[in-house]
Amino acid sequence: MSKTIQGFSRLSKTEKIDWLCAYYLNKNPNAKGILSQYWNDTKELQQLHDEFIENTISNYYLPLAIAPNFLINGTFYAIPMAIEESSVVAAASKAAKFWMTRGGFKAEVLSTVKIGHVHFTYDGEPDELILFFEEIKSKLIKEAQPITKKMDSRGGGILDIVLKNKTKALDNYYQLHCTFETLDAMGANFINSCLEQFAETLQREFEHHEITKEYEAKLTVIMSILSNYVPECIVEASISCPIADLAEGPGFDAQLFATKFEQAVQIAQIEPYRAVTHNKGVMNGVDAVIIATGNDFRAVEAGIHAYAARKGSYRSLTQVKLEDGQFTFSIKLPLALGTVGGLTNIHPLVKLNLELLGNPSAEELMQIVAVAGLAQNFAAIKSLTTTGIQKGHMKMHLMNILNQVGASENEKHQAINHFKTNKVTHSAVEDYVENIRK
Ligand code: MEV
Repeated sequence: MSKTIQGFSRLSKTEKIDWLCAYYLNKNPNAKGILSQYWNDTKELQQLHDEFIENTISNYYLPLAIAPNFLINGTFYAIPMAIEESSVVAAASKAAKFWMTRGGFKAEVLSTVKIGHVHFTYDGEPDELILFFEEIKSKLIKEAQPITKKMDSRGGGILDIVLKNKTKALDNYYQLHCTFETLDAMGANFINSCLEQFAETLQREFEHHEITKEYEAKLTVIMSILSNYVPECIVEASISCPIADLAEGPGFDAQLFATKFEQAVQIAQIEPYRAVTHNKGVMNGVDAVIIATGNDFRAVEAGIHAYAARKGSYRSLTQVKLEDGQFTFSIKLPLALGTVGGLTNIHPLVKLNLELLGNPSAEELMQIVAVAGLAQNFAAIKSLTTTGIQKGHMKMHLMNILNQVGASENEKHQAINHFKTNKVTHSAVEDYVENIRK
């Protein structure tokens, strides 16, 4: 054996770890213990997790937290968030509480269309291809019926298939641009299965068609895959109140706050360096809920950032309006989410988190996620334009620093008290712990 291996997947979990410890972790005598301490004692639960993916050796925990008091369209939610970054949940909770007494969040799904493509090349006459496509279009849909039957009966399915000529951008490149309604399912498997069936029908019908014989044209399917860019699957969320109501206690200049807030968002509209960080703050909220509800955060991330760049430069996902003394802050997000299928029925915590949210439909979950993103962005900009983020952030981060320096329970207790009135920095905490040890 060596640092490379054949048949790793066929080894048992212990054998996999033994091999890793022999060739990659041989300097760490604790490696096995670290990995095994995360194994779940409940055999069935461990097996369930082992079966989600391949080659598992342990479990990777993220903390699960709750941001309560979210008033969305008149209903209260306690939102589950799975995230490793300190202060995100505190910020969401703070924003929820702030808006709870100012009318809450409004959210609306604007569209739910999902998209996929059969990408192919064709080297013949474009007009012949158009005629051929029109001839076979109904067959494409008919032959996918065994896949779409159930979805059709629930009111979803294939919406349309359009032939697109992309040869101006790439020689001989065409697409079947296919649109779908997948209801409460994220729909990746459904869409990909339909697309692969379309591809099969397309190729077969082409081989038997006269354009092949007559014009000696060639059609080659390159690939069939859904798109994680879903600009027609959009949710909008907003918060709004009179500018004067933004004040928190005496001495708070609400008008100045609103103006600085507006400028902060405008900066993120025109300056990509700021827009990326601004949107990262949005994604703190979005991803945490996406992960807690068992959805695919990589798909959501990719789609949202493409959407943020749709006008040719990368921009803020949120907008602000100050009009007639009213402050309105809103977000539009492309979100392809599922509340059935995937992990939603099999991961016990995901199931519980969905129950916590009242077993939402996919549209309701889109609204909750958009609200979490908006709340997070509101909290970040509020901190940035008033106190700065470090004060609050470092307070929340204190426990991480204490853990990094190996503080005991007693040292933590003393430090928490001390830093209630002192500025938290990494070196201040280090010095403090060193001092009390002396
Ligand atoms: C930190 O995770 C997120 C922020 O940087 C977002 C922002 O700057 O708007 C605070």
